[in-house]
Amino acid sequence: MSVETDGLLRRVAAALTSVVHPESGEDVVSSGRVRELRAEPDGVVKFRFALRKEDPGTLVRRARAAAEAVDGVSRVKIDVGLPSATEGQGAGTPKPGGGKKSPLGPGNVPAPTPRPDVLPGVRHVVAVSSGKGGVGKSTVATNLAVALAQEGHRVGLLDADVYGPNIPTMFGERRRPSVGGTKGKEIIVPLESHGVRLMSLGFLLEEDQPAVMRGPLISGILKQFIDQVEWGELDLLVVDMPPGTGDAQLSLVQTVNVDGVVMVTTPQDVSTGDVLRAIRMFEKVNTPVLGVVENMSGFVCPCCGESVDIFGEGGGRRLAERADLPFLGAVPLEVRVREGGDRGEPAVSAAPDSASGLAFLEIARRVAEHFPVEAAASA
Ligand SMILES: Nc1ncnc2c1ncn2[C@@H]1O[C@H](COP(=O)(O)OP(=O)(O)OP(=O)(O)O)[C@@H](O)[C@H]1O
Ligand SMILES: [Mg+2]
Repeated sequence: MSVETDGLLRRVAAALTSVVHPESGEDVVSSGRVRELRAEPDGVVKFRFALRKEDPGTLVRRARAAAEAVDGVSRVKIDVGLPSATEGQGAGTPKPGGGKKSPLGPGNVPAPTPRPDVLPGVRHVVAVSSGKGGVGKSTVATNLAVALAQEGHRVGLLDADVYGPNIPTMFGERRRPSVGGTKGKEIIVPLESHGVRLMSLGFLLEEDQPAVMRGPLISGILKQFIDQVEWGELDLLVVDMPPGTGDAQLSLVQTVNVDGVVMVTTPQDVSTGDVLRAIRMFEKVNTPVLGVVENMSGFVCPCCGESVDIFGEGGGRRLAERADLPFLGAVPLEVRVREGGDRGEPAVSAAPDSASGLAFLEIARRVAEHFPVEAAASA
């Protein structure tokens, strides 16, 4: 190591020791969260961050900001490991995007049987779910995917809602994906829209389309569908889940190695109770929940811009605290979000400076923090 990189490393390490956990007061270096700190001659600094269950999602961002502020640092790449209950606190180095095979929740859940990877070119899978219908899963999935693409990630969006696939509408897509293939296996190539590779059962459900889906059960349909789509290389695949905690969710989670789930709720308690049950379901099948998004959080009046709490207030944040999960952000109820959904103009691209556009972008950044940052560079 050269004298310069050595000095840079020391300065970055010193800056990182100023980042402390808000409750325990531990700094991120001596507590073992920051690992494998390296500096390259061009000023690129890399480290792993072993996120713990009790950590707010902001801790990684604060670590990034502290490292970026150091003189001589050109770029910071952080490989974030998700918490896992089986891994001792502070012990061992989690795999990038790891924890997906480790139970987060209480109880002795057996590790899932290893499965063949049905998504070979896809680095990470993030599902957007909720215990409830109509809370804005598809809206969040759409804006999350577009925002991640805007941030430079190679992103796909799979609409796994077999009951009411509405991602095509939210993207304003009337085109059809091409279906082809050889030797009896049909291959479906996703469409690209707003920088996102899109696939929805809604594209294929018309009568004049080839019968690419057969099988009496939803789980069968989903498995077949997932197996046939050629995503190519993706940093992140966002999956828009159907409502509920039934077969379709379990089947999807068992078919694809879902790295993390974004839970969507509205602020009122009846919705958050359902979401809590859904969180427990994902934990039981060893799928980490990344955090909670509160959607329809306050109504922004289009005339005066004032915010009114139509659905109550703060339920998402309370739920996150109760479930010991990070709160990923609150998206206000805005007329333009609904209009954008109907017109195929996601808020993050049609109105990036609106309250909802900014909220979606912030949520996307928090989600991206859970995955190796190198992903952004490969776009
Ligand atoms: N923040 C928001 N502001 C205004 N309208 C919104 C907001 N979020 C969602 N909507 C609207 O609410 C309706 C339901 O949203 P969406 O379809 O995303 O919910 P969902 O949870 O995916 O529903 P389902 O359970 O049926 O799949 C849509 O018309 C959407 O445009
Ligand atoms: Mg939906």
